[in-house]
Amino acid sequence: MKTVVVQSLSATSDLSTAAALGALRLADVPFRGIVEQSLAGVYVVLDERFMYANDTFAAMFGYAREEFIGRHMADCVTPDSVPEVMQNYQRRIGGEVDNIHYFTKGVRKDGQIVHLELHASRVECQGRAALTGVALDVTERVRAQEELRQSRERLRELAQHINAAREGERARMAREVHDVLGGMLTSAKFDLSRILRRTAVPGQEELHGIATDLVLLMQETIDTARAISEELRPASLDLLGLGEALRQWMTQFARRYGVDVRVTLPDQPLPLASAVATQVFRIVQEALTNVARHAHAKTVELEAGADAQAFWLRLRDDGCGIGAKPARHGAMGLFSMTERARDIGAVLDVHDGPEGGTELTLCMALRAKHQGPSA
Ligand SMILES: Nc1ncnc2c1ncn2[C@@H]1O[C@H](COP(=O)(O)OP(=O)(O)OP(=O)(O)O)[C@@H](O)[C@H]1O
Ligand SMILES: [Mg+2]
Repeated sequence: MKTVVVQSLSATSDLSTAAALGALRLADVPFRGIVEQSLAGVYVVLDERFMYANDTFAAMFGYAREEFIGRHMADCVTPDSVPEVMQNYQRRIGGEVDNIHYFTKGVRKDGQIVHLELHASRVECQGRAALTGVALDVTERVRAQEELRQSRERLRELAQHINAAREGERARMAREVHDVLGGMLTSAKFDLSRILRRTAVPGQEELHGIATDLVLLMQETIDTARAISEELRPASLDLLGLGEALRQWMTQFARRYGVDVRVTLPDQPLPLASAVATQVFRIVQEALTNVARHAHAKTVELEAGADAQAFWLRLRDDGCGIGAKPARHGAMGLFSMTERARDIGAVLDVHDGPEGGTELTLCMALRAKHQGPSA
């Protein structure tokens, strides 16, 4: 079988090699056969009408070739695509550009839309300016991309819904534990204190001892209930604002994990509305959980600040760095943090720190809906 080398013919240095191989000259290449059999659509536009189309191009519009020839360009695309298609045509015919690569929506004979990727250039045809183009039917690709976009959108909505539902549930449980359980335990402790006082008499030593232990146990139970309530939803977030809640959480983190913490916050309250402050607090909580689980850090630094235009926060650890080991399959923490950030219109970035360790940055332009006096 003879090898056809068309591409290299223009290069003089390759001519002798090509000739030695018996390569065809451009003029001898059977272009007609190639064009007619092409799996890509091929067309020629003259005076805004398709004056040539191969079978593939006509079939993209659901027509036989004979039916398709002569159709006006504007009749072959969706109404909203007409201005762009005609403008692209004029730019090439007028010589502003030689060729354009673009996507458009064609209308098939049965009214269905076909998504096309086109690449067309200006040529001379019968002494006039015309366009020759190549087209691919990318409808399946566009559909798959659209499905992917929609499914990502749904996933995002689901994440937001879960976060909001979880937040509501945590707040409700925190209130129940603090107010209802805490109230009952305090009453029980009060009654036990009365027993304690009444048994502080000779002959009641055993009962007095039991009551003493029970009062201590009850106090521990009250403290535990308070801690659980705080874990679920820190009261400081609502009462003292984001800055103080972050400071207290960092102090508790230092105690719990034996890590040094440094917190730098402005003197004035951070100007965030309650719902936004909650999301920021949860992002920091999730990031600190990661530090505790993955980083093996000695020091964690938190800085945050705001001016009239923006809020920003940075959390840095001096641990092993985020790329130290492959992420666990099914890990959701970073995804959930990103969605929380997106929910409040903030940009979250988690990356290797400048001096090792991991750095998280959160930036948010402040608009009226983000700001609130309570935070
Ligand atoms: N501060 C950090 N230092 C080192 N590695 C980290 C840090 N934060 C995150 N990583 C790495 O990034 C991965 C992904 O974190 P992510 O929070 O998404 O998942 P996870 O903590 O493993 O699981 P979970 O879904 O319970 O949060 C972690 O598995 C860990 O390898
Ligand atoms: Mg995590």
